[in-house]
Amino acid sequence: MFKTIRGPQGGEINLDGRDVVNMASNNYLGFANDPALVKAAKDAIDEYGVSAGAARHIIGNFLVHNELEKKLAEFKEVEDTCVFSSGLTANTGAIPMIVGKGDEVFSDELNHASIIDGIRLSRAAVRVYRHKDMADLERLLQEPAEGERLIVTDAVFSMDGDLAPIPEIVALGKKYDARVMIDDAHGDGVMGRSGRGTVDHFGVRDGVYVETGSLSKAFGSSGGFVAGPKELIDKIRVQSRSFIFTATPMQPVFAAAALKAIEMLMEDDAPVRKLWDNREYFMGKMSTLGYDLGHTETPVVPVMVGDEALAKEMSEMLYNEGIFAQAIVYPTVAKGKARLRVMISAAHTKKDLDKAVAAFAKVGKEAGVL
Ligand SMILES: Cc1ncc(COP(=O)(O)O)c(C=O)c1O
Repeated sequence: MFKTIRGPQGGEINLDGRDVVNMASNNYLGFANDPALVKAAKDAIDEYGVSAGAARHIIGNFLVHNELEKKLAEFKEVEDTCVFSSGLTANTGAIPMIVGKGDEVFSDELNHASIIDGIRLSRAAVRVYRHKDMADLERLLQEPAEGERLIVTDAVFSMDGDLAPIPEIVALGKKYDARVMIDDAHGDGVMGRSGRGTVDHFGVRDGVYVETGSLSKAFGSSGGFVAGPKELIDKIRVQSRSFIFTATPMQPVFAAAALKAIEMLMEDDAPVRKLWDNREYFMGKMSTLGYDLGHTETPVVPVMVGDEALAKEMSEMLYNEGIFAQAIVYPTVAKGKARLRVMISAAHTKKDLDKAVAAFAKVGKEAGVL
């Protein structure tokens, strides 16, 4: 059912016994197999062992968790952070701490599933606005309301690579007295100064109440986090269900690897620059082929195909050419919007990218898409 990788996650991988260029991973900065992160993880296992053993508030709170949360707060320029075992549980745990029954959440129609689940768990009413459509959001905000209001959006939409109009959302939040929450799972480590994220990229930190993120993508580790005001983070630590009721929180080994990733980015933004250099190089060449590349503004590049069966077939054809790009189909994207999703990484060499473009040119012609 799933293809199997042997060896580490990198620009190239061994997939089902074949060496291919890896264009499907969230490993934006190549940190998943970075020697410094691997060493930090090994050192952490020597120091702490392999399991946290219990929930943080029982007896699973290790020094490295505290160090990571402090460093993350410094990096994201917020009062405090709290780490979770995944980005998914960060969203499902955070949203019910901000809104509840009688409140309202305004949510972009393409928001990640974990945001949708977090809203459901909060029992607040949900108002879904059309993707990035600020007139539609304003129309919904104009309707009278009594409780708290929260606007929530992905910063980088993970299937399309486009950006939420965060400055406009912040302005509407101010105008209609709604807090703003940003999920920057695909923007952290990618956007902003030294990868500080999309809120930093737009320079609107003061207008955003809270951010959630993942440590499993650009940061090359595993886990998630909530970053925001101390008052909210304190509440999450004692009340958030997905934080408290997991006997195994983010493991110390992953905290150590994530901490190393953030320290490295704060010291030198070269991996972020390399990622963007690769992204521009790839886009420059791909855009001459004639594919529909959607509205991407980031290293997530959708190659639109439309038909589901054809997208899957093209993914196999690319694999036979030594390139792995995953076909993304319904229900992850709407019916008729199937695509091959290309994820650019700092781990790619120019040779990898050239090989990918040549394969896309060949396969596109053979499949009758070009
Ligand atoms: C926008 C968004 N939020 C949250 C998550 C969940 O993060 P994690 O993989 O750390 O659970 C993802 C993962 O794909 C995502 O794309």
